[in-house]
Amino acid sequence: TSAFPIFSQEEVTRHRSLEDGVWVTYKGGVYDITAFVAMHPGGDKILLAAGGALEPFWALYAVHNQEHVLEMLSEYKVGEL
Ligand code: HEM
Repeated sequence: TSAFPIFSQEEVTRHRSLEDGVWVTYKGGVYDITAFVAMHPGGDKILLAAGGALEPFWALYAVHNQEHVLEMLSEYKVGEL
């Protein structure tokens, strides 16, 4: 059983700016990456995924397909879809 709260897609979609918070989803997990945006090696491009799924972007930018990137992402988990 998971200790994480369940969020709707609608709730995730409400978080797509630095003001409202930047949330993304990945494989059913919900991540609040607001604090990571300024640290992202790929710069502001990360905001293209704000409020939605990382998968289509990470399919294009295969640099994310590494264990250390997933470990980084896991630190920002706040819930599940
Ligand atoms: C590079 C993390 C979302 C575009 C990177 C790197 C990390 C990272 C760790 C460096 C990888 C390495 O060199 O080993 C993340 C995380 C994301 C995210 C944790 C989401 C929470 C995105 C999105 C896009 C993107 C949505 C595009 C729309 C890029 C690009 C680079 C990059 C273009 C290469 C930068 C360069 O080396 O010049 N990202 N990323 N990232 N990311 Fe992301």
